[in-house]
Amino acid sequence: MKKRFNVLVTRRLHRSALDELEKKCNVLLHSGKVPIPKKNLINKIKNMDGLICHPYDIIDKEVISNAKNLQVISTFSVGFDHIDIKVAKTQGIKIGYTPEVLTNATAELAIGLILDVLRRISEGDRIIRNKKWNQIFGAYDYTGTEISGKTIGIIGMGRIGRQVAKKANGLGMNVIYHNRKPVSKNIENMLKTKYVSENTLYKKSDIISLHVPYNKDTHHLMNLKIFKKMKKTSFLINTSRGKIVDEKQLVTALKTKEIQGAGMDVYEKEPIKKSNPLLKLENVVLAPHVGSSTKETREKMSAITSRNLLLALEGKKLLYSV
Ligand code: DGY
Repeated sequence: MKKRFNVLVTRRLHRSALDELEKKCNVLLHSGKVPIPKKNLINKIKNMDGLICHPYDIIDKEVISNAKNLQVISTFSVGFDHIDIKVAKTQGIKIGYTPEVLTNATAELAIGLILDVLRRISEGDRIIRNKKWNQIFGAYDYTGTEISGKTIGIIGMGRIGRQVAKKANGLGMNVIYHNRKPVSKNIENMLKTKYVSENTLYKKSDIISLHVPYNKDTHHLMNLKIFKKMKKTSFLINTSRGKIVDEKQLVTALKTKEIQGAGMDVYEKEPIKKSNPLLKLENVVLAPHVGSSTKETREKMSAITSRNLLLALEGKKLLYSV
């Protein structure tokens, strides 16, 4: 009889994805605290052959070194900064992730944040709900900034950056970008974009949108020194990872009007604390880390996450591996 694999799933997946797993595996589904407390995780992972985790599960050296049987970590995310990849690989553990299927959803959210913060949609919603819309039409009340004709500077021209560029073209924006290296001329032409130095991007952009992974090189990439280089009328959009922005310094920049506003989907600590000063700023739009959260995307992510895990356990090539 074929061996059934032991698999820990740190949070519910789509029923169809769980059904697939249960055909071949004994699935232990964590349904308690989110994220699973580290002590529980270490305890439970000891006899596991596979792990399905999420970006808020910190799979560090301590966790991995307790997982003596672990063959695969399959994360329900495109980001994998929550996993100590080096340690996992040294232990021969395969790592699966879910790129591509969430590219469009995340790019849509970035565009949504741009429209919202520049046209002050959420701010207007708050004004109405708080019964502060007092006159029928004040010609200069709640004036926003027009999107068409503005320059968007994209930092990180990977899958999501490119999708944002494409959508920005459709909105009549000029697109410039910075990346570790320029993308091919073909792609540049297709996306009507131009590679510029980091400094040029900071100085020329009306909107800066971040699409780089989080790692030691991108930690606090956006800080007060950089905000001071940006236009006073510019906006920052972050749908990537919270720690890429020095949040304290962003608050300072927003309060002292170094930049005009920000649209954020990710934060240094999630969920954000009730005392987070961002909550008091009108010139910021806040989303609760929902870049990839659409019905369409979540279903595909579930399927890929369980497929990656099963393929690895069967000794086959993963659909997407790190
Ligand atoms: C990702 O995929 O990395 C998102 O941030 C979480 O769903």
